[in-house]
Order: sequence, then C-alpha cells, then structure tokens
Amino acid sequence: MVENLEKEERYPSVLIMDFGSQYSELIARRIREANVFSLVISHLTSCDEIKELNPKGIILSGGPSSVYESHAPLCEEEIFKLGIPILGICYGMQLMVRQLGGDVTPAKNKAEYGRAPIFIDNKNLLLNEVKDKSIMWMSHGDSINQLPKNFFKIAHTDNTSHAAIANEKENLFGVQFHPEVVHSEFGFTLIKNFVYKICNCQSDWNAQTFIEESIPIIQKQVGNKKVLLALSGGVDSSTLAFLLHRAIGDQLVCMFIDQGFMRKDEPEFLMKFFDEKFHIKVEYINSRKRFINKLKGVSDPEQKRKIIGTEFIRVFEEESKRLGPFDYLAQGTLYPDVIESAGTNVDPKTGERIAVKIKSHHNVGGLPKDLQFKLVEPLRKLFKDEVRKVGKSLGLPDEIVKRHPFPGPGLAIRILGEVSNEKLNCLRDADWIVRDEIKKAGLYNEIWQAFAVLLPVKTVGVMGDKRTYAWPIVLRCVSSEDGMTADWSKIPDQILEKISNRIVNEVAQVNRVVFDITSKPPGTIEWE
Ligand code: XMP
Repeated sequence: MVENLEKEERYPSVLIMDFGSQYSELIARRIREANVFSLVISHLTSCDEIKELNPKGIILSGGPSSVYESHAPLCEEEIFKLGIPILGICYGMQLMVRQLGGDVTPAKNKAEYGRAPIFIDNKNLLLNEVKDKSIMWMSHGDSINQLPKNFFKIAHTDNTSHAAIANEKENLFGVQFHPEVVHSEFGFTLIKNFVYKICNCQSDWNAQTFIEESIPIIQKQVGNKKVLLALSGGVDSSTLAFLLHRAIGDQLVCMFIDQGFMRKDEPEFLMKFFDEKFHIKVEYINSRKRFINKLKGVSDPEQKRKIIGTEFIRVFEEESKRLGPFDYLAQGTLYPDVIESAGTNVDPKTGERIAVKIKSHHNVGGLPKDLQFKLVEPLRKLFKDEVRKVGKSLGLPDEIVKRHPFPGPGLAIRILGEVSNEKLNCLRDADWIVRDEIKKAGLYNEIWQAFAVLLPVKTVGVMGDKRTYAWPIVLRCVSSEDGMTADWSKIPDQILEKISNRIVNEVAQVNRVVFDITSKPPGTIEWE
C-alpha cells in the first residue's frame, strides 16, 4: 500500500516498512526531525510500488513476530536487490538476515529488554560518532545465529553477539536495538548517519518547505471553487485555515459553530483574531440555545456526547446550505489518522493487515464523509508537532499553537451530569483561574492539560461565619506525550494553594477545590 500521493507532491526520501512495530511512527518522526521527509508503508508494498516512489533509503521496522513463525510478515525479497540502502531494526534486521540466507533462533536465556551498552567491533559509517559502550534500548527474544554472505558484525552487547551488522558493499545494515527511542543514547546519531551518510539524503524538509510546496497543490486541486472549513480554534483547524487562506484567499469560508461550551472569552477571541486581524472570513453561528436545550434532562456522558455530535452535524449541514454551495470541505486530518485507517499493521498470527487502535472518542468537528463535499486535507502527512511548526511558520501566535487539547464537546463533558447555563458560567470562571495561574507560574507549556471539572454534588463549607452549601471544583492537571497515557502533574503546593484560594473566593457557588491524583490508566484525562 502506498497511500495516494499526488504527482505534484513531495515523494518520501525514506520509507519505513511497517512490520507491526509500535515504533514505526516514531522512526518516521525521528527522520523528519532530521529534516528528511519519510512515510510509513505496509510490508506488503510491492517492489514496483517502491521503485515508483524512488526512495533514497528504506527502514524495516521492528515487530511482534518471530521471523521463523509460519505467519511471520515478510517483504518481497527483490527489495534487497534494488540497490537502495536498507536498515533493518530488530525484527527488520532478523527478517533481512533470514531472507538473505542467514539464521535466526530464539535467544534462549539471552533475551534482552531495556538498556544495554553496545561494544563497537568495527567502526563504519552507520556507527560514525556513536560512542563505544553507549547505552541502547533493547527489546528482543530472538537473535542471529548465523549471518548471510557478505555480512559482518559491527557491534555486540554482553548478551548478543550481533547487536549491529553490515554488508557495506550492498549498503544493507541492521541493528538489534531501537535507535528511534530516546533512551538510546546515540540512537539519533545513528539514524542521521543512515539518512545523510549512507542514503545521501538532503536536509531539505521543514515547515517552510511544506508550506511552499502545499500552496500550489491546494490551488490546483481547488481551482476557483469555494472551500468550507469547520473552525474550532484548536491548532489543527487554525493552521488549516491559515494555510488555505494563504493559498486561496476568500474562496475559503470558515464556519465557527458556537455550541456554548467554549472556554471564557474564546469565541470572542477567535472571531477577533481570524476576522479582524487576519481578514479570514469566519461565519459565526450562535447555536448556544439549541445545544443547551437538547441537553435538558440528559446526564449520561455517552448520551451527552452523542447529542452534541449529532447536533453539530445538523447545524453544519443547515448552515453550509445557507452559505453555499461549496464544492470542497477542508478537514484537519493528520498523519496518525491516515496510518491508522490505512492499517499498515499486521496480525502476528495470521500475517493479515490489522487496523490499530482507533480513538474511542471522535471529534465533534470530525464530520461524516458522506456529506456531499470533496475533501481538502493538506495536513494529512503531518504529525501533530509538525502541524504546530507549520502553524507557527504561518504566523499563528503561541496562544493557538501551544494551546492545550480541548475536547470537541467542550465544557459540557467537564460538568458532570446535566449541563445548565448556571453551571457553565461557574465552570468557565473556575477554568479561567486555573489557566491563568498555571500560565503565571510558567507551567503551561510543560503540562499537557490543566483544567477544572464541576461536580454535581454540594458540600458544606464555612465562609465569613456563614455556612455554605456549594459545588466542589476538581483541578485536573496531567502530563502526557499523546493523551493515550498520562500522569498527574506534581504542581507545587503554593500554586495549588493560590488556585484553590482564588476559585473559592472569586467563583460564586464554589466552596471547595480538590486535586485529582489519578494517572491514566486507570483514570481517563477527562472525567466523562
Ligand atoms: P481521555 O479522557 O480519553 O482523553 O483520557 C484523551 C485526550 O482526548 C481528549 N478528548 C477529546 N478530544 N473529542 C476530542 O477532540 C472528544 O470527544 C474528546 N474526549 C476527550 C482529552 O481532552 C484528552 O486530551
């Protein structure tokens, strides 16, 4: 599978052939960090497809299988004869060894998991500037028993005689460890050696070149037609709006549906920012009453999400008819979504492609594909951190680029139980104080998310000699890499104290603040 690249688009310099590793995306990101464009492809990609893409290098990923199993995923053997430099990582190395006539067996009592120092036997280009005895990250239960012809070992560990191997004549290399993970001390050096010194890739891909290359492609795709974009104010839709506006100017119409669950002052900020400052046309749709009415009497979290999602699509359909017609719909699809839906992963037992985990919750802004539009998705080859860089290059302020993730259903899922305007106002004020104090303490960019949650119970308190009976607010602060797992943030006491004091003093109807000290798993980041 090589997912639909347009002729005008940049072709990847390095292909990552995926054998079901959890690190395949990470390898792609590391290479892109070296400003070299890379894409993940299925191991079932044919030699002909690879030739068409004309890459300068191929990396064979790790994977959960053992190469000697009957359903072990393989690649076409001719790939090793294309004359394109190849680096096999873990399973990728073992596969190359086996397919080229060597032997791989279970490591018996010598399986390695975690850190291990490597000892360099033979300096070569791949290990250039990689220090002897540097710590690399291992995770393998098999090892090489016999090398194929023309290969020699270039590094070993205490437990593995073949930690790195090379066939310099044919530019084929393998490493048993994972250079892509940050725990591997000289892992990035090794990856850069492969892409620059062995594949001769240029360091020529960055946010600016992405923008310059995307604009004519968008212009060609859209022609003189109108494009509609559902703007939420998050980093993806905002970056998309800036990119499209630069490419097609007023042919772009952004629709901002205010369901009433945004944070304090956010709708006003967005309208001012896009419309007044950057002259990007934004149609403001005030649907606040409509959404809150639909949620009357509803307290089940899933039902709330469903109602908000469905209503969003209804409003979107009605308003796009009113403002249209539009030929194109712009979507902020990102590369991880593309990889997931393309299913480059493989079931180790059957050898079949399998779709990897799909997020259980969907974005309210994620519109169904059966809407009558053609799609414009210029961010579909980018990872989130790359979108931020593109956004920054396009002139988006840090306020948007570094914004914490905010769920599509907004504050409605941070008010547990039934939502009311009174509770929304209360939570908005508390949430504003949380962000204000976290920013003032210089912690905003270190924390993945910091927010307030309103509980649907009342607790007794005392203020100024008077008994109070009011809602508690939960303070939720987490650190995370991708939102899939998270740890609660260890916020200094003085900041917790300040937040708590301000909330109980400044927000009417709140008399207590509690701090959530649950990681994910077992908790989730949001409370609903
Ligand atoms: P959970 O609560 O599942 O959240 O640990 C993980 C991350 O996803 C965000 N989140 C959402 N984002 N639509 C979104 O666009 C949603 O419905 C949604 N629900 C949760 C959450 O804020 C966290 O960053």
